[in-house]
Amino acid sequence: MVEQNRLYWEAIAPGRLGESIEFLRSGGSALTDDELALIGDPTGLRVLQLACSVGDESLTLARNGAQVTAVDLAEGHLRTGRQKAAALGVKINFLRQDMMALAPELAGFDRVLISGGGLCWVPDLDRWAVDVAGRLTPGGRIVISEHHPLWEVLTVNGENSLLVSADYFGQGRDGYTDPMKAPQVTWGSTAELPEHRSFVWGIGAVVTALVAAGLMIESLREWAAPDMYPGLGTVADRIPSAYLLSAARP
Ligand SMILES: C[S@@+](CC[C@H](N)C(=O)[O-])C[C@H]1O[C@@H](n2cnc3c(N)ncnc32)[C@H](O)[C@@H]1O
Repeated sequence: MVEQNRLYWEAIAPGRLGESIEFLRSGGSALTDDELALIGDPTGLRVLQLACSVGDESLTLARNGAQVTAVDLAEGHLRTGRQKAAALGVKINFLRQDMMALAPELAGFDRVLISGGGLCWVPDLDRWAVDVAGRLTPGGRIVISEHHPLWEVLTVNGENSLLVSADYFGQGRDGYTDPMKAPQVTWGSTAELPEHRSFVWGIGAVVTALVAAGLMIESLREWAAPDMYPGLGTVADRIPSAYLLSAARP
């Protein structure tokens, strides 16, 4: 399954470039103020970003003084990330790794970050949480900034109307039942893409996995991002689109 997912991400890598060099060079941030506040002062922080794709968040942190290791399954995305780092003159340790089978030496991090559609590629949340917890220093923190699982299962059906298009409790999904939940680069494309399997991890499942792994939940905030429900109208700000969670290793 991981290999199938890798082939899928490699297939869409050429069209997925992330933020422009100009944007990042002129001080643009790939992280929101809320995300940055939760991560804390990046100066000197040892950060591991999981499922980093082209590494825009890592580039933002490295430009602000963090020592970043960024891992992803797909070489095509990492290549783009390395090119961007070189153009910006920042050092990031980009590694091709499956986040379910990270190299043992990737440990002792102050922060682990996963964001923007990374967590749905974790096939076994409980095992993943235990592994990540073990890679944090005591006092270190995992920061999860993710699509809300409710957003993952709701499809806009017109103004003030939603369809339940996936199973909040069903976890594994083959492909995307709602193509608008797939990476933006695939929208409207007729290209045949490799089969892939991702997961919907409910809020309860995430919190329970982290707590069972010995982490202490520090904050969990859900919020609305109306542009993630295009066509829903004004009610789009009454349902969650994303969440931001911080959990610390005691
Ligand atoms: C939506 S992107 C991640 C989001 C990233 N923060 C961004 O905004 O670009 C999902 C990434 O997860 C990676 N991925 C999928 N399964 C993975 C795995 N088992 N280990 C590491 N990376 C994985 C894919 O290659 C892809 O680059």
